Amino acid sequence: MLKGKTVIFGVSGGIAAYKSVEIARNLVKKGATVKVIMTQAATKFITPLTFSTLTNQPVATGLFNKELSGEIHHISLSDEADIVLVAPATANIIAKVANGIADDLLSTTILATDVPVIFAPSMNSRMYLNEITQKNIKRLEAYGYRMVGPAMGELACGKGGIGRLSETDAIVEAVEFEIARGSDLKGYSVMVTAGGTREPIDPVRFIGNKSSGKTGYAIANELVRRGSKTTLISSPTCLPVPQKVNFVPINTASDMNRETIKRFDKNDAVIMTAAVADFHPLKTHKEKIKKDNIDELSIKLKPNPDIIRELGEAKGKKILIAFAAESENLLENAKRKLERKNLDLIVANDISKTGIGFGEDFNKVTIIEKDGKITEFPRMTKRAIARIIVDKLINLVEPK
Ligand SMILES: Cc1cc2nc3c(=O)[nH]c(=O)nc-3n(C[C@H](O)[C@H](O)[C@H](O)COP(=O)(O)O)c2cc1C
Repeated sequence: MLKGKTVIFGVSGGIAAYKSVEIARNLVKKGATVKVIMTQAATKFITPLTFSTLTNQPVATGLFNKELSGEIHHISLSDEADIVLVAPATANIIAKVANGIADDLLSTTILATDVPVIFAPSMNSRMYLNEITQKNIKRLEAYGYRMVGPAMGELACGKGGIGRLSETDAIVEAVEFEIARGSDLKGYSVMVTAGGTREPIDPVRFIGNKSSGKTGYAIANELVRRGSKTTLISSPTCLPVPQKVNFVPINTASDMNRETIKRFDKNDAVIMTAAVADFHPLKTHKEKIKKDNIDELSIKLKPNPDIIRELGEAKGKKILIAFAAESENLLENAKRKLERKNLDLIVANDISKTGIGFGEDFNKVTIIEKDGKITEFPRMTKRAIARIIVDKLINLVEPK
C-alpha cells in the first residue's frame, strides 16, 4: 500500500525515539521509501546509523549539511515527500511548527512542504496538558495537521497518564490512511467556482464583493490532492492558480453561468463557493463616466440568472454543494437555500462576525446535509475546512 511512496520521517528528541525504529521498519516493510530527519536532540537518544541501516537511506540531521546531495536539503526533501510523519513529536517541535519557527532541518522541511503532515506527540503528562502545548496542538489541527495520540499508559518518568506515544501500528495505519486519501477521488471530476464576480458599470468600474476566493482555491487544492480531475472557474483574485487544475478565468456572473453550465455534464460534483452577484447594471457605459456636472448618478440593476438553482434543477445524480453567507438567521436561511435549490449539502457561515469569513484565512462554518444532519465546526483555517468539505463529498459521491 505504501509502494512507490516517500515518507519523510522526522524523529525528535523524546524518550520514545527508540520506538521510531520499529515504525521506520514497518514503513519500509510496507514498501515505502523512508527518509529520516533527526533533530540534534534525537541523536542523543538514538544514532543515525540505526535508521540509515534500516531504511537503506542517508539520514539527515542538519540544515547546513550538504554532504548528502549538494541540494538545498529542506526543499529537496519536501519536494520528494508524499507525506511527513513526526514520531515521536516533542512538545518543542510542536511548539515550533505551531509558531512558524524554522531553525533546524526538520522544522524547516515541515514549513516548506505542502503534503500532509502527521504528528505523534509523546511527552510527560504535565508537558502535554500544559495549556501552551494544548493551544499549540489545537493551532496545528486548525491548520490541517493531523495528530495521532498521545495514548494513556505508563510513561518514562515512571508515572501513568496521558502522553505516551501511540502504538506503532496505529501510527503506521495513520500514514497508510492519509496516503490512501490521495486517491479517494481518482476517476472523479469535480468543478469548483471561486471568487467574487465583477459586474461592469463602465470600462473602468465594476460592482464587486468582498469574496477573496480563498475557500474555493483551498477546496480546489484539496480536490487535486485527493486525485480528482478538478476544474476551477474563478473571477480575478490575488491567489496563485493551484497546480494541476483546469483553470477557467471569468469576470461576470453571466460568464460564470455560461462556463459552469457548459461543463456541468462532464462533472460528478460541483462545489459553488463563488460569491456571484445577484444583480448587474442594466446598461454598461461604453466610455468612462465623467464626474463633471453630475450631482447624482443612479445605476439601474437587473437580476442575474440563479446558477445554483439551474444546476439544482438539472443535477440528477450529481452532487451539488453550495455556501450560504448570511448576516442573520444563519441556519434558517441556509436550510431554506438547501431545500429550495435542491442541494446535497450547504456550508453556512456567519458574515456578521469579524476575523472570519470574507478575505480572512479563517472561518467558522456549520454544515447542513440533505438528511437534516447539522454539524457546527470551531473556527479553523479555510484549508482545514476544505478538507472537511472534501471528506463529506467523498461520502456523497456514488462509488465508481
Ligand atoms: C532524558 C530526556 C527525555 C526527554 N523526553 C522527552 C519527551 O518524551 N517528550 C518531549 O517533548 N521532550 C522530552 N525531552 C526534552 C526534549 O529533549 C527537549 O525539549 C529538546 O529540546 C527537544 O528538541 P527537539 O524537539 O529539537 O528534538 C527529554 C529530555 C531528556 C533529557
